Amino acid sequence: LAQTPLFRGVSETALQVAREAFVARSYPAGKLIFEAGDLGAALYVVQSGKVRIYRTYFDGRERMFAYLGPGEVFGEMSLLDDQPRSASAEVVEDAVLLVLYQDGYWSLVRRYPEILHNLAVILAKRLREADLELEVLSFEEARGRVAYALIKLSRQLYNGGNKLRLTHMELAQLSGTSRETVTRVLHALRDEELVKLGSGSVELLDPTGLEEVMLGLR
Ligand code: CMP
Repeated sequence: LAQTPLFRGVSETALQVAREAFVARSYPAGKLIFEAGDLGAALYVVQSGKVRIYRTYFDGRERMFAYLGPGEVFGEMSLLDDQPRSASAEVVEDAVLLVLYQDGYWSLVRRYPEILHNLAVILAKRLREADLELEVLSFEEARGRVAYALIKLSRQLYNGGNKLRLTHMELAQLSGTSRETVTRVLHALRDEELVKLGSGSVELLDPTGLEEVMLGLR
């Protein structure tokens, strides 16, 4: 427990009390710990082994959020807000998990509020990661949309010609993104040698490559 960020900087006495509040459980690889939507108010600390956090969607697709190893915490969200589990948790490598139930949690944070602060730090870190991911995802989409707009413009306005005259603003309107995003995407495409940028013009150097971008293949 001393290794987890949840107990960073807390006194030995607090750690001793915490050890008594947690219950150790062994889980074999492949075991589902809980599923998204489950009711449950317990927080877990990975003592050994590996756990993955993911979501399955109706069409069977899955999205991986994280792999967690020793010292890492999960399940804190439902413990804090009493809402159903936001994701599923499954054991990937035989694991020993330390489980903290709500009663234990409350008596612990009342006595040692620094643990609550540590939990807030863990949540802040997760939010930062989620923000970054959101940015990357929307950027990927914008890449595809900008590439699509360039290809479409080349086909419809230039009969397949590769040198397009247009401003970033026009391209933004065509691709349904902001001008800033278009500029960012164009700079990335230029760095990948897919386009050449002039003032008021975009030259398509590699239309096949751009089609791949449009389809999300690169
Ligand atoms: P809870 O909602 O109780 O149950 C699922 C848990 O997965 C959640 O608490 C978090 O601890 C964890 N979790 C949810 N989203 C992420 C994420 N993006 N990265 C890492 N862990 C997550």
